[in-house]
Order: sequence, then C-alpha cells, then structure tokens
Amino acid sequence: MIYDGIKDKVAIITGAGMGIGYAIAELLLENGARLVLNDVDEKMAEEALVRLEKKFPDKCSVFIGDAADIEVIEKLVLFTLTQYKGIDFVIPNAGITLFGDFFRFKPEEFDKVIGLNLKGAFFLVQKTGEIMKTQGRGGRVVLMSSITGIKGYPDLTAYSMTKAALQMMAKSLVLALAPYQITVNAIAPGATLTERTKEEEPDYAGTWGKLIPSGVVGKPIDMAETCLFLLSDGAAHINGQTLVVDGGWTAIGRYPKDLE
Ligand SMILES: NC(=O)c1ccc[n+]([C@@H]2O[C@H](COP(=O)([O-])OP(=O)(O)OC[C@H]3O[C@@H](n4cnc5c(N)ncnc54)[C@H](O)[C@@H]3O)[C@@H](O)[C@H]2O)c1
Repeated sequence: MIYDGIKDKVAIITGAGMGIGYAIAELLLENGARLVLNDVDEKMAEEALVRLEKKFPDKCSVFIGDAADIEVIEKLVLFTLTQYKGIDFVIPNAGITLFGDFFRFKPEEFDKVIGLNLKGAFFLVQKTGEIMKTQGRGGRVVLMSSITGIKGYPDLTAYSMTKAALQMMAKSLVLALAPYQITVNAIAPGATLTERTKEEEPDYAGTWGKLIPSGVVGKPIDMAETCLFLLSDGAAHINGQTLVVDGGWTAIGRYPKDLE
C-alpha cells in the first residue's frame, strides 16, 4: 500500500537483512523513502542490498554491525547523517529469540537477549531522538515488541521480559519525545513466518496456524504494513501505543473442552 508522509523521509532499520525488517525496508522504499539497512550478517545484508538496488536504485545503503553495540549504533547514526543529511524514522527491529529453561538459563544468555533487544533499542532511539529533536521536523520511532510481551510462554522468560519492556519504553518515551512531534509506538507481532521461523519449524504455518483463529500465520508484509501506517501522516496522533498484529491469537480464551 502507499502511505502519505513517507516519500523522501530517511529511515534506519536494524536487523533488516531478512524477515520482518527486510519487508519494512522494501515497503518503505516502495513508498519513496531512503534508508540505511543494518544487519550483523554481512552476506545477508549485501544480498538484500542487491535485491533492493535493482528495484530502487540509489535509495538504500547498508551498514554492517551488531545493533547491540553502542559504538556500532553511534557509527550507524553518523553514517546515515553523512549519506542522507538527516533522520526521520527509526525502527530498532533487530532482536534475538533465545529459548531456554528458566532454571538453566545462563547469565551470558540473559545479557545477550537484553543487550540486543533492550539496550540496543534504547540507545539507538536515544541517539536518533537527539538528532530528530535538533532537526525540528518531528520524527517517528517504531519498536518491535511481540505478543510474548503480553502473555507468558514456556522457555521464553528473558525474551518476553524484553518485549514487555519495549511496550513500556514506547509509553515512557512519549514524555521525552512528544514535545518535538516525535511519536513512539510498538508493534507486537504474533507467530510470523520468516526465513528464521521456517528453519526452526519446517511446517511453521501448519503448526502455529492452529493457534490463530483464522488458521493463518502472520507474514512479514503484515508487520511492514502496520509499521508503515505508524510512520505515516495518518498515525500522527497515535503515541505510546502497542499495536498487536497476531490474527487474533491473544484476543481469544479457551474452554476445557478445547484441550480435548
Ligand atoms: N518472526 C516472528 O514470529 C516474530 C514474532 C514476534 C516478534 N518478532 C520480532 O520481530 C523482529 C524481527 O524478527 P524476525 O523474525 O524477522 O528476525 P530474524 O531473526 O529473522 O532476524 C532478522 C535479521 O536480524 C539480523 N540480526 C540478528 N542479530 C543482529 C544484531 N545483533 N545486529 C544486527 N542485526 C542482527 C539477522 O542477521 C537477520 O538478518 C525481532 O525483534 C523479533 O523479536 C518476530
């Protein structure tokens, strides 16, 4: 879909070599934005760039690096300013899903999840927020939460904690950013079929679709359309909110007979 207020805007998206981030990048470019696509995986990012360059020449650049690393974040922001002379949209999409039994979960695993999902997102928004504030032309932040930030799921405590915290981050940052016409919202995807989730479970659509009222799992484009809406002029008055995009999964309850 084409959205108002996207054309010529400059975006940063982390973890965008594939999956949801890549779909957001593609839809942003279709809508006339320019962007810096970040990924830690060089090959993945370069392949993504080749595909995007074919369709949208000279509108997209790549910055390789770990989105959990503060030095990388600072360089990513500087690189974007050098390339496109400003920043309008930031989407800290990179996230790590580490499953693990609560009683066996290791401190280094915990740090890894928190380091990317929370610390990386926090400092990317801090650094880009400062730029948007100084530019004086508003801006948009879209955080990538999850339905695991709303309900508890087995073996995902640390991950879920970060995804719940991102929803609070959206609310709390309203205070710091709304006076500068910068909105901060989050998307909470449900089960979404990406290259990664398909690798984890070959019949991902069949297995996870059973949990969703329509029987259909989410696609990266579903999250990208929601993201573009939140970045568009039409969402100018939406701030501090989390939009759940899960096909109704978290909307329904179950009766004992459903377990039979
Ligand atoms: N796929 C789902 O079902 C689902 C559901 C809910 C929430 N989410 C969230 O949406 C976001 C994107 O999910 P996805 O499944 O598309 O992602 P993914 O796991 O497929 O990864 C996308 C890209 O991120 C890159 N990446 C990984 N670590 C990075 C790092 N430290 N720095 C920079 N790039 C890094 C990977 O190389 C990959 O190319 C994540 O935050 C995830 O938690 C996904």
